[in-house]
Amino acid sequence: MKLLLRCLIVLLVAAGTYLAVHLSRKGPQASSGGRLTVHFTCDSSGRLEPCGCFTGQHGGLTRLRTWLGEQSPSGAVLKLDAGGAIAGGADYDLIQHRYMARAYATMGFSALNMGGREAAIPAADLVKLSAVSAVPMLSASLVSSETRETLLTPYRIVKIDGLRIGILGVVSPRSVPTPGEGVAVLGLNEAIDRHLPKVAAESDLVILLAFANELEMRRLANDYYELALVLGGDVPGPTQDLIRENESLIAFTTNQARTVGTLSATVTGDARKHLSDPAYQIQLLKESIPQDGELVALAGSYRAEIRKTALDLDDPDSTDPNAIPGVGPSATYVGSTSCHDCHAKDHAVWEKSGHAHAFATLEKKGADADPHCISCHTVGSGKQGGYRRPMGSKSLVDVGCESCHGPGSEHVARYRDGKPTNFKFRPLGAGDCMTCHYGEFSRPFNWEEFWPKIAHGSDKPVIK
Ligand code: HEC
Ligand code: HEC
Ligand code: HEC
Ligand code: HEC
Repeated sequence: MKLLLRCLIVLLVAAGTYLAVHLSRKGPQASSGGRLTVHFTCDSSGRLEPCGCFTGQHGGLTRLRTWLGEQSPSGAVLKLDAGGAIAGGADYDLIQHRYMARAYATMGFSALNMGGREAAIPAADLVKLSAVSAVPMLSASLVSSETRETLLTPYRIVKIDGLRIGILGVVSPRSVPTPGEGVAVLGLNEAIDRHLPKVAAESDLVILLAFANELEMRRLANDYYELALVLGGDVPGPTQDLIRENESLIAFTTNQARTVGTLSATVTGDARKHLSDPAYQIQLLKESIPQDGELVALAGSYRAEIRKTALDLDDPDSTDPNAIPGVGPSATYVGSTSCHDCHAKDHAVWEKSGHAHAFATLEKKGADADPHCISCHTVGSGKQGGYRRPMGSKSLVDVGCESCHGPGSEHVARYRDGKPTNFKFRPLGAGDCMTCHYGEFSRPFNWEEFWPKIAHGSDKPVIK
């Protein structure tokens, strides 16, 4: 009898332990064996929508949203940005970033990592920006240069289908030539060492967002077996094939919002999970993908805000940051009409060209107040005496004579007023065209094809 009772107790205890173990395993482990799909972007550079400078352009968050909306992977889905969503550090870039973050939020992104451009923003602005960002801005690397405390959230834990995913964000000091005022960039290992133990303890699986080069990403995978996935990066092009290093999968993309990476894999392992059986794809956001209407409207709201906001570059005294201090140009901008009298034939050629309507092109798109556009569609924007927004000086709109030849006041004074000067315009060539005709802003530039369309200058000027 006693023996029987003892057996029963042993049995009950065993059953209890079994149940306890298995019940406690429910929850976090429910997704083990399930699929996890991660969509990721990097280096979106403020490309909420493509600029529209020529037909055949790829990319833009407007296309990303359409494409993501068409995907329906099974299992858990996560969306992340590995850094570089901002176009630069100017006041209008910070305004635009708010809209970028809102666009990312509508697509369900969980984190925006900080890249090299973000790290160049002054600490105070960065903190302000993150306070209003619709998607959490992560960085374990960026710290106050005074207190060495992190400026932003270093990591976050996202729960999907019971799986706790830790997302940690870093940027390599090598990707940040000059950190913003009050910002210091920790070494990659120091940034990770500070937070990884906590991230690992609070999560089942860790993803590192690393705005770093390929070698650095590989090295981090070898240094930290806890990383299931490393996404980047500061790279010349996207990974075509997934990289496996130590316990991690590594993938990266770039290209100013023209591509999106997608990785899906099976979540395996007991306590610390890793990813197995991966499928990987880099998708080019082709022109044939329609632009999402809601984000096109959001881009319109950005342009409306920028139009009514006073910006640093509106200041007539603000100059090209590349200008040498104290060495002002000897000549100032006078506008294309000033050239008409003596160069009537050249002026007539110009007037018929697209260059003479470049500002109207922006007005049609409502982009005539957007600093991201006016630089190439006006004369001397941002340079001393060049086009300024609030003054709206109509003589300096469009790609004028002086957009290519440079400021002409000295030249005009010489021939019209007989001013003694040895000023001479410098000779021009294809390289001067390519200050505007490059990358996404132009069909591939070819002098033999482009110059004949605007050819001029062979007629003798007539002094009037
Ligand atoms: C780096 C210089 C540059 C910037 C910045 C730029 N553009 Fe352009 N844009 C060009 C050039 C060059 C062309 C002509 C391209 C060609 O003919 O292949 C062009 C052409 C265009 C055209 C097509 C004109 C036509 O009728 O064919 C549109 C529209 C346009 N730009 C809008 C914009 C908008 C909007 C922005 C800001 C988001 C912008 N551009 C920023 C250089 C620039
Ligand atoms: C008052 C008459 C006059 C006006 C106005 C004028 N030019 Fe000229 N320009 C000339 C003359 C004359 C020459 C020829 C000089 C020579 O043959 O040595 C010339 C030559 C040039 C050259 C050849 C390079 C050089 O420096 O000699 C360029 C380029 C040029 N002009 C551009 C312009 C532009 C751009 C404007 C408007 C900002 C302009 N010109 C306004 C009279 C004028
Ligand atoms: C300051 C920026 C800028 C520079 C420099 C520039 N372009 Fe352009 N170009 C533009 C823009 C903007 C447009 C689009 C104008 C539009 O249609 O709104 C354009 C359009 C064109 C076009 C197509 C329109 C047409 O008239 O056929 C040609 C061709 C062209 N550029 C040739 C050249 C050549 C050649 C050079 C160098 C000698 C040059 N461009 C330098 C900004 C520039
Ligand atoms: C898109 C760029 C661009 C624009 C806009 C432009 N030019 Fe030119 N211009 C050139 C190039 C390139 C040459 C040929 C190379 C050279 O001679 O420097 C040239 C040549 C000339 C020449 C002959 C230069 C010489 O040394 O004999 C004159 C004069 C001239 N341009 C005047 C003008 C005037 C006036 C306007 C405006 C009505 C104008 N250009 C607009 C790019 C431009």
